[in-house]
Amino acid sequence: MDRSGVEAVKARVSIADIVRRYVDLKPVSGRWMGACPFHQETKPSMSVNDDEGFFYCFGCQASGDVIDFYSRINGLDFKEALEQLAAEVGIELSNVPRDPHAAERKARKLLLLDMHNEANAWFQRNLQVASGDTTKRYLADRGMTQEVIDKFELGYSPDDWHGLANHLKSKGRTPDQGVEAGLLSKNEKGNIYDRFRGRLIFPIQDLSGRVIAFGGRIITEGEPKYLNSSDTPIYKKGDHLYGLNLARPTMTRSKRAILTEGYMDVISLHQFGYTDSCGVLGTALTPEQVKRLAGFCSRVDLVFDGDGAGRKAALKSSRMILLQGVSCKVVLMPDGEDVDSLLQTKGAEGFEACMNEAPDGLTFCMNTLRDEHAPRDIMKWAKSFLSELSETALQAYYLPRITKGLGLSEADFRRDAGISVPPRNTIQRSRQAPDSQMQQATMASGKENKDDRYFLMFPIQYPDYVSALAERGFGHILGTDWAKALWEKIVSTQPGQIMNLLNEQEKGFYIRCREEMRENILSGRDLLDEWEHICNKIASGQNKLDRRQLKEALHQAQQTGDSQRVMECLRALNESLGRDNEQH
Ligand code: UTP
Ligand code: MN
Repeated sequence: MDRSGVEAVKARVSIADIVRRYVDLKPVSGRWMGACPFHQETKPSMSVNDDEGFFYCFGCQASGDVIDFYSRINGLDFKEALEQLAAEVGIELSNVPRDPHAAERKARKLLLLDMHNEANAWFQRNLQVASGDTTKRYLADRGMTQEVIDKFELGYSPDDWHGLANHLKSKGRTPDQGVEAGLLSKNEKGNIYDRFRGRLIFPIQDLSGRVIAFGGRIITEGEPKYLNSSDTPIYKKGDHLYGLNLARPTMTRSKRAILTEGYMDVISLHQFGYTDSCGVLGTALTPEQVKRLAGFCSRVDLVFDGDGAGRKAALKSSRMILLQGVSCKVVLMPDGEDVDSLLQTKGAEGFEACMNEAPDGLTFCMNTLRDEHAPRDIMKWAKSFLSELSETALQAYYLPRITKGLGLSEADFRRDAGISVPPRNTIQRSRQAPDSQMQQATMASGKENKDDRYFLMFPIQYPDYVSALAERGFGHILGTDWAKALWEKIVSTQPGQIMNLLNEQEKGFYIRCREEMRENILSGRDLLDEWEHICNKIASGQNKLDRRQLKEALHQAQQTGDSQRVMECLRALNESLGRDNEQH
């Protein structure tokens, strides 16, 4: 990872400005406070420190710098978040492997995005003018309010072969560029024409709200009912979810996603207040989509038709979600209804009634398997499910639930499936990466740990004292490895740079210390008292160490019969004990 890129981005973007895009921030005694988007919260539990560039939630302990915040809230990995923020503030990341075509590719993507933007505005405008009247009436007949029409930026593509083509031309785009963007089509004769004609248009946006594709529903006669953009350099089917950018703010709060199949279903759900809803786009759910959702929420409510095809899709989808360790519910619609028709005819109560009946994903899978599949298929399902789990620790969680659900004995199943799930405690131990050992250490409440946490707080809160502490041998009073390692990092860097060196748990601890200080900042006599207290601790720690060495020396002197050395050691030991008494 290129540190200078990270530093440059952090120096250029204000964390408060980024957080403010997602959270209402209010100034509270020199810092910003808002409702944490990472756990269910309405009270301002999250503090944003713009000067030092980090955020911290007093409720769920979420913490980190601006890149951590941005990646978490957008479901991106660190690198993606860094790249997006860098692009936003115009920083070139030098560590990105030099791709000779990168600049060209980027320019092309920008061109495609611009064209989608232009097309989107044009579609929207067409819905407003007279030619859009039929579509407007159609939407009204389907119960869509102006509010959701605006929110989802719905539009209309006139029944014209060259409407958009001409519009793009007026913007200086060539017909071939329109084809590359997937907005225009080319036939065998080489003629270029509008792809979407006479359709209600649904723009598909990425997480930053940029339009990257379109879906279009026919509103009169014709096939297909829905026409979608094909894959382009800016859009890959199966990677995106319809409405996710609009649903994200609610999702990060509710920790739930409602996932449905249709464009209209998503829009109706939002209209009826289910603003954490999004849709798969004309394909079966993909693992990429599930990963995206898993970044924001811990539960997915799958909404499917209650018919055979719907149940089959629900089985596949819930399996995929459970495999990622995310829980889910399966909400089946009554015969002949979809969410949109249900909401429009029976309102939220109608939908709530279905939600109340919805089994959790694993129960649904077990029931469906038992009712509809042969025993050998069930066994195959269970075995492959357990072997495909994203984390082995999840096996221990699912195994008893699956065997119980299928009415099997756990031991029989394990023997038959050749699965050796070690007892729970070994799993936990073997899963422990160094970082989680660290976490255990920083969280543990043992006396040594507690002391170390207490001592380390001081240099973290009052960095001016770091070098003085180092000179006095502060490291010696620390008893645990994690604390020693963190102290090493503190000593070897400037306070402004340290965040880059810290692992997740260290970062958490560091930020917590900085934040707690804001609650209770020491000054004057109090600060001096604390300083003296720590110095005494160091001195007595040093004394103890000295004494251990003196005792060893004494022992040796006695062994060799060096009586003068014995006397020296005894005297020194005495002095050391006296010093300790003075300090207490
Ligand atoms: P449906 O046929 O169930 O339509 O397709 P719908 O969403 O209920 O639409 P309305 O209510 O009749 O307007 C479900 C979804 O499958 C995709 C679309 O995403 C659609 O919303 N689909 C369907 C296509 O991509 N192409 C099609 O031809 C049909
Ligand atoms: Mn429908």
